[in-house]
Amino acid sequence: METLQERIKEASSLEALEKIRVEIFGKKGLLAAEFAKLKDVPGPEKKAFAEGLNHQKSALQETFESTLAALKAVALEEQLVAETIDVSLYGNLGEKGALHPVAQTMDKIIDYFVALNFSVETGPLVEDDFHNFEALNLPKHHPARDMQDTFYFADGGLLRTHTSPAQIRTMLKEKPPIRMIAPGAVFRRDYDLTHTPMFHQVEGLVVEEKGKVSFANLKAILTDFLHHMFGDVEVRFRPSFFPFTEPSAEVDISCIFCKGSGCRVCSHTGWLEVLGSGVVDPNVFKAVGYENVSGYAFGLGVERFAMLMHEIPDLRSLFEGDIRLLEQFR
Ligand code: PHE
Repeated sequence: METLQERIKEASSLEALEKIRVEIFGKKGLLAAEFAKLKDVPGPEKKAFAEGLNHQKSALQETFESTLAALKAVALEEQLVAETIDVSLYGNLGEKGALHPVAQTMDKIIDYFVALNFSVETGPLVEDDFHNFEALNLPKHHPARDMQDTFYFADGGLLRTHTSPAQIRTMLKEKPPIRMIAPGAVFRRDYDLTHTPMFHQVEGLVVEEKGKVSFANLKAILTDFLHHMFGDVEVRFRPSFFPFTEPSAEVDISCIFCKGSGCRVCSHTGWLEVLGSGVVDPNVFKAVGYENVSGYAFGLGVERFAMLMHEIPDLRSLFEGDIRLLEQFR
C-alpha cells in the first residue's frame, strides 16, 4: 500500500486525484476489494485483518485529504491570477458626443454680442401678421412679402419667416435704450442646396436716444463681428433693400475659399454675402410707439455661417441626423 500513498501524493491535478480516489475508495475500488476478502479470513484472524485494513484505510484517507487541500490551494491561486482585474486600467468610456455645428456656430455668435452687453431675447415660432410683417413696415399686399415664402395656418397665423418679430416684441415690452440679439429658428418654403424649410437666424437691434447711433456704428460693430467669426477677411457693405431698414445694406466678406480671386462658392465674384442690415426705418419705431430714437438692426443665417466656416457643401446635410457628420465636430 506504500505505492498507493505515493500515487496519491503525486497526483498533479484535482482531476487526477479524483481518478485515484475512485480507484482506491470507490464502491468497486481497491479497498472495497480488500474488505471483501474479510469473509474468507478464518475466524480468529478476522479481527487483526480488519484492524489492519482500517488502519491502512485511514492512513490513505489522511494522505488523500492533505493532497486534496494542497491541490485546491494551487487551483485557487491559479484562478486568482487568471481573474486578476487591473482597476487602474481605463474601461470602455463609450462614444464622445459633439455639439451640432449649428449650435457651435450659434454659441460663437452669441458669445460675441453677450460680451458687448447685448441681451438675448426670444419670441414665439408661431407668429401673427402684425409682428412678422405689419409692424416691420410690410403692409398687407406689399410685394416684399413675396421674398419670405411664408407658411400660413388656416386661422391666419404663420411660422415666423425671420427673427425680426422678436425686435418688435422686445421694443413693445421694454423702453429704449435697447441692445439685443434674438437667436432662433425661422421657417420658409424653400428646399435646395443652400435652403431648408427650417433654419436659424440671429437678429440684432440697437436703439438709442436720437442721434446717438448711426450707420457708422453698425458698420464698425459688424466689421469687428465678422472678423471674430471668419478671421482676417475683407468686409464690404453693399446698398440693398429691406422694408424695415433705411438705408439698408447687405454685408459681404471676401471669399474665404479663393481669397477673393473667384471660385464656385462665391460664383466667381470673390465675395460671399453673409448679413442683412440697416438703419431702423422710422415706420418701425412708429409701430411700437417709440419717439426720438435712432437705431440699427441686422440679421444673419446661422447655417450659412456654419457652412462657410466648416466648408459644408450641402446645407441639408446639417439636418439629416447622420452621426458621421457630427463625429467631425468633436
Ligand atoms: N430679417 C431679414 C431677413 O430675414 C434680415 C434683416 C434683419 C435685415 C434686420 C435687416 C435688418 O432677411
